[in-house]
Amino acid sequence: MLKGKTAIITGGSRGIGAAIAKKLAYMGADIAVIYAGNTEAAEKVCIGCVDSYGIKAMAYQCNVADFTTAKETVAKIKADFGGAHILINNAGITRDGLIAMMREEDFDNVVDTNLKGAFNMIRHCTGLFLRQKTGVIINISSVAGIMGNAGQANYSASKAGLIGLTKATARELAAKGIRCNAVAPGFIATDMTEDQSESPLLATVPLGRMGTAEEVADGVAYLVCAEYITGEVLRIDGGIAI
Ligand code: NAI
Repeated sequence: MLKGKTAIITGGSRGIGAAIAKKLAYMGADIAVIYAGNTEAAEKVCIGCVDSYGIKAMAYQCNVADFTTAKETVAKIKADFGGAHILINNAGITRDGLIAMMREEDFDNVVDTNLKGAFNMIRHCTGLFLRQKTGVIINISSVAGIMGNAGQANYSASKAGLIGLTKATARELAAKGIRCNAVAPGFIATDMTEDQSESPLLATVPLGRMGTAEEVADGVAYLVCAEYITGEVLRIDGGIAI
């Protein structure tokens, strides 16, 4: 279904990003995995995709928060794959704390990675997409960006910002054949949430359980293929933000 397309997945070395990489590889896309630090994990995701689905997959260490590094990485991917067609902005971090005590650097680091990182990648991929007259962007937001979450002012702000970025990008690039959507996961079982598996907040999930990374990847795959949907925010949250 995605044969001949190249998908860039930021934060693809583990968790939700790794599940998205595997899902898009299963659908036939070639995969460029961007990761922050764990080369072994990123290589493992790539090897798994190549072995299971016979596609091309390569890993790139890159801090998406750095404008120039992001630009160089997109150029390397273009040279290695001959182009790119799908961008999944999934890289994200948390630095939780109450706002009255939140350190400036914790606000800045979260916004720089989660929001500016997505901007950097969109900014550097857009030239490619415009030349091709086609492209798909999916930003991984969060229900925290819709509802706000106490103790996560930095994270909630970054994820709400991603929704604004998604809608503006969708409006600006629709006429050029480029779609941009967001996915807003709720409580998903990954390394990021491993200390929250007993959280009382879980009782507020109408479907009564955490989601899986694969369930988020299924939603991303749907939006990648949904030719008449742009500027949308798809909640995958067991109903937590109804
Ligand atoms: P994770 O912590 O397991 O993985 C995060 C990934 O982002 C890693 O591959 C890491 O290498 C990468 N990354 C972090 N900073 C980076 C940087 N500066 N440059 C490049 N890569 C960087 O997280 P998880 O749980 O898989 O989350 C993935 C995305 O989904 C994040 O954006 C997160 O905010 C979002 N999300 C997760 C939820 C959950 O319950 N796990 C809920 C809602 C949203």
